[in-house]
Amino acid sequence: MAHSHFSFCFWTTLKEMDKIRVLFVGDIVGAAGRKALKEMLPILKRTKNPELIIVNGENAAGGRGITAAIAKEFYDQGVHGITLGNHTWDNKDIFDFIDKEDRLIRPANYPPGTPGRGFTTVKGANGKELTIVNIQGRTYLPPLDCPFQTIDAILEKQKKKSKCILVDFHAEVTSEKIAMGWHLDGKVSAVLGTHTHVQTRDERILPQGTAYVTDVGMVGARDGVLGMERQAVLQKFKTGLPVRFTADEGKWQFHAAYMELDENTGLATKVELIRQFETEMVWA
Ligand SMILES: [Fe+2]
Repeated sequence: MAHSHFSFCFWTTLKEMDKIRVLFVGDIVGAAGRKALKEMLPILKRTKNPELIIVNGENAAGGRGITAAIAKEFYDQGVHGITLGNHTWDNKDIFDFIDKEDRLIRPANYPPGTPGRGFTTVKGANGKELTIVNIQGRTYLPPLDCPFQTIDAILEKQKKKSKCILVDFHAEVTSEKIAMGWHLDGKVSAVLGTHTHVQTRDERILPQGTAYVTDVGMVGARDGVLGMERQAVLQKFKTGLPVRFTADEGKWQFHAAYMELDENTGLATKVELIRQFETEMVWA
């Protein structure tokens, strides 16, 4: 009995060594979103012990883009990589640092010559490595190169170098995201949707082993509209007149996806969604 117990533990330890634990945090919106990240990360580090933490930061600066200071704030909190989206260029600061920053990526399907990069490999705890790719959908968003052809070209080059690959598909419509999930099933570790800010409850591991969710959901004020202050959004819908939106500073909601990946196959063994509201926090 003692012997079999030993081999069981040994086997479990070996399996653990081949596993990568990844936390992906959805679109962080403004100050409320950044506060949520600051409060939730220590808890999730304790309970999930992720070796890699990736966040979508395209709305982090008041709902519009990201600044070098905010990116640094994220890294200082233990974030390993940042993805963006259609708001990448909203904050002009981005042009000063995007080319120097190798842990921050913008959609890969911008035309050749666009500043920044569309994918990168980041290093996490325990020497674990993860390649992250950002692509953007084309339905109800400004036209870019074909995301399907773009990701195929990236995988063609990168597949030999990286086992574990996470794709942030920043897109508006559910059908385009679900189609991308099927397109990449078995080819990447995870396809995670961002941009709509509303978490969809369809997380699954697709038949060939790719973790999938249509939208991870956002991190920001819960009582606004997608993280923005709601009166302005209401006024815009009701009058049709141009209105300036600002990020809502109210109580936050936090949405993320937690995954476990097998380093040998590059496929997912677990995916689960995380949702937390500031109003329901139980402070220890
Ligand atoms: Fe977006």
